[in-house]
Amino acid sequence: MTEIPLVDLTVHHAPRDMRDRIALGFTKTLRFCADTFFAKRYGHRAIVLETVAAVPGMVGATINHLKCLRRMCDDKGWIRTLMEEAENERMHLMTFIEVARPTLFERLVILAVQWVFYVAFFGLYLVSARIAHRIVGYFEEEAVISYTLYLKEIDEGRSPNLPAPVIARNYWKLPDDATLRDVVLVVRADEAHHRDVNHSFACELAGVEPAGETAPYPDHADDLRAAA
Ligand SMILES: [Fe+2]
Ligand SMILES: [Fe+2]
Repeated sequence: MTEIPLVDLTVHHAPRDMRDRIALGFTKTLRFCADTFFAKRYGHRAIVLETVAAVPGMVGATINHLKCLRRMCDDKGWIRTLMEEAENERMHLMTFIEVARPTLFERLVILAVQWVFYVAFFGLYLVSARIAHRIVGYFEEEAVISYTLYLKEIDEGRSPNLPAPVIARNYWKLPDDATLRDVVLVVRADEAHHRDVNHSFACELAGVEPAGETAPYPDHADDLRAAA
């Protein structure tokens, strides 16, 4: 079985300048909207938000790929890292779709948000990759908080601790008797890793040292088709 890495839940990048404050303000605004829309429907919340979370990695990978082609330079491993992040977020989505079913309205929201968010994030990344990565770092801080609240719902009996979906057991190499609680723990560990990676990318672009260590990444299956 995969070891579920311990997660430092307290990590928060204190804004250092105006760009960081813009990123944090934007994230807090979206957090308020998500809290208002979903309240404690954590399964539904996970599905809709994971459709958004899987976008930035692919946008960042695409733009860095094109930049490296134009400048004929090395990517320092950023492209693979960002593509892996996008793929990982898509596996979060494929897992939670086994736990909850989005309503028709939520599916319409997903369609509309994808158009707006993809175009907006692409434009932002072209203008300021640093703000874009800082926003993702803050998004991931919020994701860690949300999955911690989801764990509390399960532990206090308000959400059923269902058996882990097969796709999740295969992807995170979990035992046959794994439960939804185990899945939320590994998903939260993934989000903590994304949080630290994106904050460190933003720091690198700003020319400052990242604050701490990067949270360890859980072990994942190499063959996603077999996992599905
Ligand atoms: Fe996620
Ligand atoms: Fe994430």
